[in-house]
Amino acid sequence: MANARAKLMVLGAALLLAGCSGGEEGGSKMGGGSGGPPASGGEGAAPVARIFSDPEMIARGRQLYRANCARCHGENAQGAFNWRRRGPDGKWPPPPLDGSGHTWHHPLAALRHTIRNGTLTMGGSMPAWKDKLGDEEIDAIIAWFQSLWPDEIYRQWLAIDERARRRNAR
Ligand code: HEC
Repeated sequence: MANARAKLMVLGAALLLAGCSGGEEGGSKMGGGSGGPPASGGEGAAPVARIFSDPEMIARGRQLYRANCARCHGENAQGAFNWRRRGPDGKWPPPPLDGSGHTWHHPLAALRHTIRNGTLTMGGSMPAWKDKLGDEEIDAIIAWFQSLWPDEIYRQWLAIDERARRRNAR
């Protein structure tokens, strides 16, 4: 089982690097890395309960984001303007984290893993943060950029995250 899980981790990492343009979980067609919102779950749905909702945590995450991540992912996490295309060096520019990209395809564990370890060892260009930021700081940053996600995106993400948790609990 541990082996299968390791394979999943590798697969997840490969998807991150591939810009997640292949149709992944979530059911939306993601051709060319276009990360548009999925079909709506219906008008007037109740607001979704968020895992991270403490306003102080979110405010702290915003500061940490500005200090560490904004230079690549943009002041408002909008990503590089050309994030949908590989650069001439074959690498992906920094994608948006604000819900307009594909960040919501990744369960919490995968987001934490990517931020902690970066993507340099996989041929990407994001440095690792585990020696600079503690787990709580990383969670605060996730809390902040998730606070930018519309409810509908967040709801899709929660379903993906719950599936991943169930898989890992087995
Ligand atoms: C030097 C530029 C750079 C910095 C600084 C940077 N990133 Fe990244 N990040 C990237 C790139 C480029 C990618 C796309 C993966 C790749 O090819 O490296 C990425 C990918 C990600 C992803 C996966 C997104 C997705 O949609 O799959 C997350 C999450 C992320 N970064 C969060 C952060 C956070 C949080 C910080 C600050 C602590 C940060 N990044 C700082 C360049 C950067």
